[in-house]
Amino acid sequence: MGEIIDGRQVAAEVIESVKAATSVLEATASVTPGLAVIIVGDDPASHAYVGAKSRMAKECGFKSVQHTLPAETTQAELANLVETLNGDQSIHGILVQLPLPKHLNCDPIIQSILPEKDVDGLHVVNAGKVATGDLDGGLVSCTPAGAMVFVRRVHGDDLSGLNAVVIGRSNLFGKPMSALLLAANATVTTAHSRTRDLPAVCRNADILVAAVGRAEMVKADWIKPGATVIDVGINRVPAPEKGEGKSRLVGDVAFEDARQVAGVITPVPGGVGPMTIAMLMANTVKAAYRKAGVPPPKF
Ligand SMILES: NC(=O)c1ccc[n+]([C@@H]2O[C@H](COP(=O)([O-])OP(=O)(O)OC[C@H]3O[C@@H](n4cnc5c(N)ncnc54)[C@H](OP(=O)(O)O)[C@@H]3O)[C@@H](O)[C@H]2O)c1
Repeated sequence: MGEIIDGRQVAAEVIESVKAATSVLEATASVTPGLAVIIVGDDPASHAYVGAKSRMAKECGFKSVQHTLPAETTQAELANLVETLNGDQSIHGILVQLPLPKHLNCDPIIQSILPEKDVDGLHVVNAGKVATGDLDGGLVSCTPAGAMVFVRRVHGDDLSGLNAVVIGRSNLFGKPMSALLLAANATVTTAHSRTRDLPAVCRNADILVAAVGRAEMVKADWIKPGATVIDVGINRVPAPEKGEGKSRLVGDVAFEDARQVAGVITPVPGGVGPMTIAMLMANTVKAAYRKAGVPPPKF
């Protein structure tokens, strides 16, 4: 039976390190990390995420600023706000909560954030640094950075000789995850919807990372015995057993069967999810260290 990684516990440990790093920066350089979160419109799920991020930023001892803009905000108004925050010396991290309302064009907004303040790691400069293996110079996208914390805890920093398979090739997750595994010397396969015989590809993986968005797609017999399985998928499925109209969250991996085969496995919820916010805090404190000219800690 595979060991289950408690993502909430690991995330709490990262948060403790962030708090300690914040205190050190305040004591040595008189700098308080500042995180600005922008949300446009009234999507309830986005508001819940943003609320959690703002609360966690306060808990870490940051200056936490939330800009809540109405759904009818124009592209120019949003661009102006990002420009103002780019120029604000007390703000080290800027996050624009996605998705934006349909009338707004997200890409120019994300690309207008100064790369050194792009704590979501979505700017092409940061994506390019990850792609070229420059992991200490930029800011790594939070979810893959969080998944790598799990991988390092199981296998250490050097993945030489290990085969890793990432299912999914999105810019948000699959591509940076593959790049991070490659930078750690794993032999990496990036699978996607056009991959032939995906189960056979997965059976080759010592480290299997699923980021597809299809409930319980990865079956137990796709998993190499003893493999490390990181489930990034978040899928809401009906749960009539909880009552009429109720639902529950599941990952991309058929967890109960898969844990009989895997060596280590992450659950959904409570696996990768909590790490995303923790790594956002880690990126913000890193950005503040760099701005103060102090080498940042590693998380
Ligand atoms: N904080 C978190 O925990 C967190 C953060 C980010 C994402 N997620 C979750 O992770 C999942 C993926 O997110 P994403 O943004 O990367 O999604 P995405 O942009 O929709 O990408 C999904 C990827 O899965 C591939 N795919 C789709 N169907 C497939 C199939 N049948 N076989 C193999 N590959 C298939 C797609 O291939 P093609 O490229 O060929 O279409 C694509 O590369 C979602 O459930 C999302 O909610 C969680």
